[in-house]
Amino acid sequence: MAFINWSDSLSVGVKLFDDDHKELVSIANRLHDSITVGSQQAVLAPILNELVKYTIFHFGHEEGMMLQYAYPAYEKHKKEHDALIAKVQDFSDQVKSGKTSISLSLIAFLKEWLVNHIMASDKEYVDFFSKKGIK
Ligand SMILES: [Fe+2]
Repeated sequence: MAFINWSDSLSVGVKLFDDDHKELVSIANRLHDSITVGSQQAVLAPILNELVKYTIFHFGHEEGMMLQYAYPAYEKHKKEHDALIAKVQDFSDQVKSGKTSISLSLIAFLKEWLVNHIMASDKEYVDFFSKKGIK
């Protein structure tokens, strides 16, 4: 069973964001699997790189749409995104510098982020974008 399973309960009603979230879940699952089989830096670093890049790419999608439609909670949401990028970048830097003891905290962070951010903060924009007719 995958570390995080995508289900409709994670859907935010906007196809682009759901597709991005699915890709993020897939990268997180790969990272989790690599950690659990004891992979080291050479394997983990490229996956973390991919996670950092895709995270920035995806947050750009959400923020762009929020700005375009003047989403009222944009600033608050953007702050959360910036904090998540900083955190995932920090994990990436730590792995690159050879720290392997971060594995468990990284796994906890991934779940906390992907599930809680989507289920709490992202869910807050569902009604907003739905009323704007965005699918
Ligand atoms: Fe978000």
